[in-house]
Amino acid sequence: MDYAATTPVDSRVLEAMLPYFTEKFGNSVSLHSFGQEAKNALEKTRMMMVKTLNAQNKEEIIFTSSATESNNLALKGIAFANQNKGKHIIISSIEHDCVLNSACWLEKQGFKITKIKVDKYGLIAPKEVEKAIRKDTILVSIIHASNEIGTIQPIEKIGEICQKKGVYFHTDAAQSFGKIPIDVQKMKVDLLTASSHKIYGPKGAALLYIKKGTKIEPLLHGGGHEFGLRSSTVNIPAIVGFGKAIEICQKEMKKESRRQTKLRDKLIKGILEKIPNSHLNGHPKKRLPNNANFWFSYIEGEAIIMNLDSYGIGVSTGSACSSEKLEPSHVLLACGLRPEQAHGSLRISLGRWTKEKDIDYVLKVLPKVVKRLREISPFKR
Ligand SMILES: Cc1ncc(COP(=O)(O)O)c(C=O)c1O
Repeated sequence: MDYAATTPVDSRVLEAMLPYFTEKFGNSVSLHSFGQEAKNALEKTRMMMVKTLNAQNKEEIIFTSSATESNNLALKGIAFANQNKGKHIIISSIEHDCVLNSACWLEKQGFKITKIKVDKYGLIAPKEVEKAIRKDTILVSIIHASNEIGTIQPIEKIGEICQKKGVYFHTDAAQSFGKIPIDVQKMKVDLLTASSHKIYGPKGAALLYIKKGTKIEPLLHGGGHEFGLRSSTVNIPAIVGFGKAIEICQKEMKKESRRQTKLRDKLIKGILEKIPNSHLNGHPKKRLPNNANFWFSYIEGEAIIMNLDSYGIGVSTGSACSSEKLEPSHVLLACGLRPEQAHGSLRISLGRWTKEKDIDYVLKVLPKVVKRLREISPFKR
């Protein structure tokens, strides 16, 4: 019940990866046939990503090690390459920590950051982005679908505005890639982040789509791999796995999306009916098929997690990266929740192996857990 944090590697993905650890172990820049075999696998996967994203050519796909790295490259790379034009960057108030903290770091280097506010569902109004764009704006970076509340942003409309104003537009699609259709041309994005371990691929592989002609500086300097934008020996097994993972997701997307939406809606309806003073976070319709997020009055999300864990149910309070922090989620606060409401929140995320009986089990256990925690809650009184 925590597939948004990470996913197990699909056995079909593992099977595709295995030969690249042993007999096909070459370095993709070596000239001999071992190297060329690795290079062929890399380029085949790159072409698959071009097709999946509806990109225009292979130089637009840069493989990285993680969505965090891709987002750092997008923000810092654009900032440093375009600072002669201006030093103003726009993000939203509900970005993942790796975008927020990259922006925060850039602020310390003299860049100016504007954070766009969201409504109670976590939605961004494109006209707010338009109003925030200034003469010195060089980049807008808006998350495609929230990792915490699942809300899907009107990316195409924001893309149109950025294109009209001549400002680079990046979207972090780590949670949406492989789950809902993505087309970089339709979305009018210049840069897009996607990740492998959220889609039943291995950890250690991700990509940054960079539209041809975009001015960007690399973060890693070295042997000039990935068209000079990401030096370092390429992680071929992980990238091959990433390719197989997206191939499966694309094939199964329509059916899986319908199946998970049905399960998600059953879960949401069941929780809101069975648990008094429970509330849905995020948009009721414009949300990822696998995401449900709630807040429960009088209790804390961490206590619910520990109790559910004893029943064999793994859930989360929000982003996996910030689950060790004790501060309330910045995403829920941005949606207008008070700190104590944000503390009482829980993210339940479904995936490829979630069955209806799992939903029924959560619907049986969670109301009991919430009731018991409320009985001992000092806030209740
Ligand atoms: C939307 C989003 N962006 C970025 C990341 C960071 O991904 P990684 O930990 O793979 O670097 C995550 C991971 O949770 C995410 O959900």
